[in-house]
Amino acid sequence: MNHLIAPSILSANFANLEEDIQMLNKSDADWIHVDVMDGLFVPNISFGFPVIAAVNNFAKKPLDVHLMIVNPDRYLKEFKDVGAEIITVHYEACTHLHRTVQAIKELGCKAGVALNPHTPVAVLSDILHDLDLVLIMSVNPGFGGQKFIDHTYHKIHQLKKMALESNPNLYIEIDGGVSIHNSLALLKAGANVLVAGNAIFSAVDQHHAIAELKKISPN
Ligand code: DX5
Ligand code: ZN
Repeated sequence: MNHLIAPSILSANFANLEEDIQMLNKSDADWIHVDVMDGLFVPNISFGFPVIAAVNNFAKKPLDVHLMIVNPDRYLKEFKDVGAEIITVHYEACTHLHRTVQAIKELGCKAGVALNPHTPVAVLSDILHDLDLVLIMSVNPGFGGQKFIDHTYHKIHQLKKMALESNPNLYIEIDGGVSIHNSLALLKAGANVLVAGNAIFSAVDQHHAIAELKKISPN
């Protein structure tokens, strides 16, 4: 599978989101990564349904919605209704993860599970075959522009090994501190979806920054 690029609009210009979405529409981006934070699961609040619905009005690419919220089950349908195609919940926020994953799939969305930096990938061994995507956090969730945690490579390797056995089509998504400097190593380790916020939106030529991430070849 060729790798995918999912720019995170957490680092976009909130005063002119339409312009940034149109830029993503014309770029090599594959998905649009949407970070939802509730101020409880993470120490920050980002945006909610009206903003995502507005983004979806212009977006021509799938919305990849990363829920950094407690009790995600309460809102899954609302996220689907405002345009989510992929819904990723945090392992650490779901007591009945199997039920939550089934609920996402019943809505017709792709189901993802995110792991905080301290959570071992092994906790997913009995649910991996049911997932479309695993998101490995390579920073502590809550903010854009943080430093990549190097231990993440080890987790990608392990997850890739598990996926080869039970779910070879799994999307392995890396989120946090991803840039042109570490992307080749991340792809070689087994990642196939790169989320990038700061590395794209702080670039002078954002279009070019996305193209550069897209054209990296791990082979
Ligand atoms: C962090 C979010 C990330 C973040 C990535 O909590 O989940 O998606 O926006 O931003 P960068 O690429 O700037 O680390
Ligand atoms: Zn994210």
